[in-house]
Amino acid sequence: MNKKTVRDIDLKGKRVLVRCDFNVPYDENRVITDNRRIVAALPTIKYLIENNCKVILCSHLGRPKGEVKPEFSLDIVATELTRLLGQEVKLAKDVVGPDAQALAESLKEGEVMLLENVRYESGEEKNDEELSKAFASLAEVYVNDAFGTAHRAHSSTTGVASYLPAVSGFLIEKELNFLGTALENPERPFVAILGGKKVSDKIGVINALLEKVDTLMIGGAMAYTFFKAMGYNVGNSICELDKLDLANELMEKAKAKGVKLMLPVDTKLGREFDPNTESKIVAYNEIPDGWEGYDIGPETIKLYSEELQKAKTVVWNGPLGLFEFDQFALGTNGIAKTLSEIDCIKIIGGGDSAAAVEKAGLAEKFTHISTGGGASLEFLEGKKLPGIEALNDK
Ligand code: 3PG
Repeated sequence: MNKKTVRDIDLKGKRVLVRCDFNVPYDENRVITDNRRIVAALPTIKYLIENNCKVILCSHLGRPKGEVKPEFSLDIVATELTRLLGQEVKLAKDVVGPDAQALAESLKEGEVMLLENVRYESGEEKNDEELSKAFASLAEVYVNDAFGTAHRAHSSTTGVASYLPAVSGFLIEKELNFLGTALENPERPFVAILGGKKVSDKIGVINALLEKVDTLMIGGAMAYTFFKAMGYNVGNSICELDKLDLANELMEKAKAKGVKLMLPVDTKLGREFDPNTESKIVAYNEIPDGWEGYDIGPETIKLYSEELQKAKTVVWNGPLGLFEFDQFALGTNGIAKTLSEIDCIKIIGGGDSAAAVEKAGLAEKFTHISTGGGASLEFLEGKKLPGIEALNDK
């Protein structure tokens, strides 16, 4: 990485503002259901504590859209951080207001505080200059470790970096090392597995990966747009009729590039969107009316698993079926299990596929599970991430 990290500057005893991505899922009782993003931020936070910094953490949670809404408070994150660090993490009552300022002023070396949800400020998502300056006024050094939010050009992710020495934390460094190496210098064969609902969401990444991979496996609901483009019936399956030409172009491009583009050979259908709905398995070109495709079928799991045995690098983004419903999670879980048993570089590009692997209890079998959903997708598309671009060059 050509950006400075916390190792590259003198921050001993300094007041340091750290942008994290603490945008974690939580249930209706405001209990955090997956704390991985908080855990992933710990190495940087601990390093700063060890260097006697006065640590001021900040993050967004959800999308409160510039309004103070208690259901989006970072109080749950402060409590979890306090537990994980074994030391108190004080939560400011505001973002850059009097309470945040007073708390930041009173911080002693090695102490940690957390600002309230940065998206309580209407200027945050507009990358407002005044707000960026207000963030900068709290500290002497800015550290961005929010990989999951690095694709957003907001005040706390980019704007503030203009007013302070700005470096990356260990999480961003690690994410870029794994994702960057996989893309730029992969051990081959290099296989990408792409799932998700819509071809339109994944065009960019499919296009970019067709330039890099040896094999591209498609799953998830976007497969039905490809089947339709090939002239087959897809019943009630999700299908983007305005993307049929595009699907054909992508298949042509794969052919021209010599990339093996693999589509499901069978599919598991359901009658309706219900966890207990009647289901059946059919060939990809025999989907009857009145049924909707929710998963790849067992022949596809077998075929993809066989191909994966040859892989030396695998990048996976997007679940292969409706994994939230047990009877349609077999494809995603089957491929996760195959990957867990293969000895190669295995990277999960965040979001739902990360959640699926976590749910299957296989997370520790992967080389790297990205903390970024949208951010890792944009990175795989080859886009520049503004939160990283804004940091000081080495
Ligand atoms: C994410 O969960 O992908 C990041 O935290 C970014 O959140 P956002 O899509 O609300 O900007």
